[in-house]
Amino acid sequence: MVVLGIESSCDETAAAVLADGRRLLSSVVASQDAIHAPYGGVVPELASRRHLEVIVPVVEKALADAHVSLPDLDGIAVTQGPGLVGSLLVGCSVAKPLAYVHRLPLVAVNHLEGHIYASFLTDDPPEHPFLALVVSGGHTALYHARAPLTYALVGQTRDDAAGEAFDKVAKLLGLGFPGGPVIERTAVAGDPKAITFPLAQMSDGGADFSFSGVKTSVSLYVKQRAPLAAAEVADVAASFQATVVKMLVRKTVKAALHQGIKRVVLTGGVAANGRLREALEAAAIEHGLRLHIPPRHLCTDNAAMITAAGTVRLAAGERAPLTMNAIPDLALAV
Ligand code: KG4
Ligand code: ZN
Repeated sequence: MVVLGIESSCDETAAAVLADGRRLLSSVVASQDAIHAPYGGVVPELASRRHLEVIVPVVEKALADAHVSLPDLDGIAVTQGPGLVGSLLVGCSVAKPLAYVHRLPLVAVNHLEGHIYASFLTDDPPEHPFLALVVSGGHTALYHARAPLTYALVGQTRDDAAGEAFDKVAKLLGLGFPGGPVIERTAVAGDPKAITFPLAQMSDGGADFSFSGVKTSVSLYVKQRAPLAAAEVADVAASFQATVVKMLVRKTVKAALHQGIKRVVLTGGVAANGRLREALEAAAIEHGLRLHIPPRHLCTDNAAMITAAGTVRLAAGERAPLTMNAIPDLALAV
């Protein structure tokens, strides 16, 4: 089965072609980082306009790189949500007519399920059941994937997403956008123990996350000590990163042990972070958990992951009607 996948939920325009659910024939990602960088965050109106400009060339390149043409395909997968409505609409508005004209089955994919399916594009795909920590710019949540395509929400952020916290702290420190990669680079020169930022504790001891406290405390620290020398900026970046990593690792391990789940998947843009990857790896070894982390380029937004999830849904007989449309707050599980 050869499937074309289209992703445009936020600020990456992406298309990919996947054969048999595992063999990636092409993956094209057009980043809009340079467009949003001057604003320190994604500007929704600019994002949808840029998607409109590049979506057709991106899809054409994905097909050309894969050496397939539209009639060769067995289906089309498109991200339906969650995401920015204007951005999602562009992907859906391209996928639907392509499916109609070429009489191809269409399937709608949840972006978060896509992130989870990035872990199936490796030589060591996870077996169900597993616990998935999805950490991105818009979401931070733990899902129990009991069986293929079946999810239960175990915990989620009560305020900011982890990636959002990285982006906001980078902006506070004047480091640029997107925040995650630049904080990670800046932190290399800093001491992760230099500053103690608060670790959020849930009063009910649940598996939920909170990142607004650490963000506010970084903001206060920066205001009180401004202007910061380069060495201090590095210490703030390293200490902030260490705090977020500690919170993510603790909650994930605790939830896995509590629920008796032996396998863990780490995915989403923030899963590209080297410190998080290493820390969860170490914790997994310590607690006898099997950890699966996709390569970095499959953790951040891409269409390969959407195509992987879409292929499983198509194979299960799922079809989206041509009346399908973007759902900005689409949930994966409750
Ligand atoms: O999954 P993603 O590409 O898009 C969304 O679905 O949101 O995640 C983007 C987020 C951004 O907040 C970005 O700062 C963060 O992932 N990110 C990182 C790293 N690379 C990207 N955060 C920490 N360390 C990184 N190396
Ligand atoms: Zn994402």
